[in-house]
Amino acid sequence: ASMTEEAIKSNIRTIRDWPKPGINFRDVTTLFENADCFRAVIKSLVGWARERDLNCLAGIDARGFVLAGALAYELGLPLVLVRKKGKLPAETLSENYTLEYGQATIEVHNTDTIRGQRVLVIDDLLATGGTALAAIRLMRRLGAERVDFAAIINLSELPGQQLLHEDGIHTFALCN
Ligand code: PRP
Ligand code: HPA
Repeated sequence: ASMTEEAIKSNIRTIRDWPKPGINFRDVTTLFENADCFRAVIKSLVGWARERDLNCLAGIDARGFVLAGALAYELGLPLVLVRKKGKLPAETLSENYTLEYGQATIEVHNTDTIRGQRVLVIDDLLATGGTALAAIRLMRRLGAERVDFAAIINLSELPGQQLLHEDGIHTFALCN
């Protein structure tokens, strides 16, 4: 079941002025609630990922986890979780970053799984790129050989995709 960009977009709800005035929040919970649409999104991400000769996945907290889990199952690849500060129980590496509506810190376990690998970082949405670039820095600190990035949505009026390209990162998104 493949789906057009327009069909995917029509399943993403926009919430005005959330979490702050002036932000039109793209809410993918409505997409996840449509089983056919969710499967089409995973199928499309899997198709792209298969062409990238990957050997590890990293999912970003929280909606990136939903996508990354399905991809890890389908591709048979190891999955590393990039979490918001204070959630991971073992020794971590952390990165501070600025995102569209604030500042935050993400962390990853100090794992050997990433070293020398071609890693795909997955999230629901790319906006300013702050979150994605922080996750990519973590993958590099863990010794990744190459890092790609995929999301459902690229907010193309914001600089995220351009910043990732300037950093040598291949990116993929299904809509904007
Ligand atoms: C959102 C989204 C991305 C990030 C994108 O998550 O899921 O991770 O912001 O914005 P950026 O490109 O400007 O960095 P959020 O930080 O709101 O966290 P949540 O998963 O806890 O809702
Ligand atoms: N939706 C989800 N996450 C986001 C958004 C959005 O519209 N903008 C920045 N991060």
